[in-house]
Amino acid sequence: MTEPSTPSHLRTAVFISGRGSNMTALVEAARAPDFPADIALVLSNRADAAGLAYAGEAGIATAVVDHKPFNGNREAFERAIDAVLVEHGVELVCLAGFLRVLTPWFVTRWAGRLINIHPSLLPAFRGLDTHARALAANVRLHGCTVHFVTPELDDGPVIAQAAVPILEGDTAQTLAGRVLVQEHVIYPAALARVASGRAKLVDGRVVLTGDTTRPDAVLVVPA
Ligand code: GAR
Repeated sequence: MTEPSTPSHLRTAVFISGRGSNMTALVEAARAPDFPADIALVLSNRADAAGLAYAGEAGIATAVVDHKPFNGNREAFERAIDAVLVEHGVELVCLAGFLRVLTPWFVTRWAGRLINIHPSLLPAFRGLDTHARALAANVRLHGCTVHFVTPELDDGPVIAQAAVPILEGDTAQTLAGRVLVQEHVIYPAALARVASGRAKLVDGRVVLTGDTTRPDAVLVVPA
């Protein structure tokens, strides 16, 4: 059974695999009555994901779909996830540290309704260890990106980005910490834009409408 959601509040699922700090930021933002999305479900592929406990305590439905019994059959795993999403009446999906690569089947099925956060200024530094790689590349600006998901890993039309300067003496840990603070700012803002229709996927690019001067799609953090 699905709980009725407030009209015009899009029923949103957040997928996690671990800590879930971005999921927590989305849940907290969605508590505001005028936020255009309800977090209706937190789903994890790992039963031991720390974020599941927080979601449960916050009164949000949780689900675990373990990928291991599917023996590498990714589409069968995703069909099981999809059934859970349908059961909960989910309309929009946010990936938040979900450590499974999704197949074109799932990505196509949820096209325009599936967003992800990645800890770099895409298209730079797709994949893992983004902070260490940004330091090794001697760039001055790093950051994070929220984007619509396409079949390519950590790729897709950009909804929002925050640029975070790299400071002298930064380590991967200090840089990751400052980027994470901005992830928690831009992900709720990007979700609000998508859920309210102020960021739409049109012909493979993102069209922003409404108040585009608000600093929620482009955030530059001063050094
Ligand atoms: C976040 O930094 C997120 O950007 C990253 O995983 C972390 C999850 O942390 N995602 C990716 O690297 C996706 N390629 P969280 O569980 O505390 O939100």
